[in-house]
Amino acid sequence: MGWSFSISVLLFLTFLIQIHGRGFAENYGCNLFQGSWVYDESYPLYATSQCPFIEKEFDCQNNGRPDKFYLKYRWQPAGCNLTRFNGEDFLRRHRGRSLMFVGDSLSLNQWQSLTCMLHIAVPLAPYNLVRNGDLSIFTFPTYGVKVMFSRNAFLVDIVSESIGRVLKLDSIQAGQTWKGIDILIFDSWHWWLHTGRKQPWDLIQVGNRTVRDMNRLVAYEIALNTWAKWIDYNIDPTRTRVLFQGVSPDHQNPAQWGEPRANFCAGQTKPISGLRYPGGPNPAEVVLEKVLKAMQKPVYLLDITTLSQLRIDGHPSVYGHGGHLDMDCSHWCLAGVPDTWNELLYVSLFQN
Ligand SMILES: *[C@@H]1O[C@H](CO)[C@@H](O)[C@H](O)[C@H]1NC(C)=O
Ligand SMILES: *[C@@H]1O[C@H](CO)[C@@H](O)[C@H](O)[C@H]1NC(C)=O
Repeated sequence: MGWSFSISVLLFLTFLIQIHGRGFAENYGCNLFQGSWVYDESYPLYATSQCPFIEKEFDCQNNGRPDKFYLKYRWQPAGCNLTRFNGEDFLRRHRGRSLMFVGDSLSLNQWQSLTCMLHIAVPLAPYNLVRNGDLSIFTFPTYGVKVMFSRNAFLVDIVSESIGRVLKLDSIQAGQTWKGIDILIFDSWHWWLHTGRKQPWDLIQVGNRTVRDMNRLVAYEIALNTWAKWIDYNIDPTRTRVLFQGVSPDHQNPAQWGEPRANFCAGQTKPISGLRYPGGPNPAEVVLEKVLKAMQKPVYLLDITTLSQLRIDGHPSVYGHGGHLDMDCSHWCLAGVPDTWNELLYVSLFQN
């Protein structure tokens, strides 16, 4: 009895550690975010011609991208099979609810993908799209479901003062817009790297200190902690689900995947095979995970970083246009990688 009893106890403890250990990412012992890309003829999930409201900058095929392999990959977790996305089921499960993506254009990328996937599932159901400044609201009146996008690249505030535009790492006014939403999905990172003309602030304020510049990863961590405090203080987890989109990787530097002479991400037609990205972990993602782990309220990390790192082929490169005449190795073509983020969102929302 001794041995088998000890082994059972050990297995049970391992199971408990697995489900509670990280507090997020693991589902019934299967990490949805560990796996590989497999070729699947049944993909993509839609053609953008079925999605009349798609933004031109994501519509790579219509912008002239010649290759199609990149449309044909399905994410396969190593330990389980993903439930296939069912848009009608998504709408029924979330009847009467509001979802809001809050963040930068990677958040916009995911919001556009989800609205396409839902519209294509119920093409005859009326929809209503209102884009008003930083807020976009996509409504399915029959289901009472609202899928919103609130553009907010830093989550913390930028305020115009006499000394210039001040990025305030300790202050969140936008939080007022997040109250009363049923499902919040945040993201932030890419704008923290901007300098020169693309940098939308002149000074950074932390507590009583105002500085011209500081290490951007440090600034990001302080801001995320401000955001975390806001969530811990304001969110009631029995009413509101909070998720964070893992840092979406860019592929500006081919040396990361061992092709020093490649032209950024241009001409890539296939994902990296296997489980690991040769370029190693994304430093911003490491910071994000650290902040989320220290929170009191449960925030689910939609841990898309590694799986997206493998998709060197997923970016518009020179087929972004409509606002991106340059090389774009940050956003993602649609149909494409953000559809997988939404397949994972779908499964995550009903597993937890
Ligand atoms: C996943 O699906 C494949 C093919 O249908 C099947 O062979 C396999 O057993 C499934 N794996 C799990 C963990 O359910
Ligand atoms: C920061 O400002 C607050 C309120 O204005 C003040 O009470 C505090 O002493 C200041 N701290 C430092 C380190 O200057």
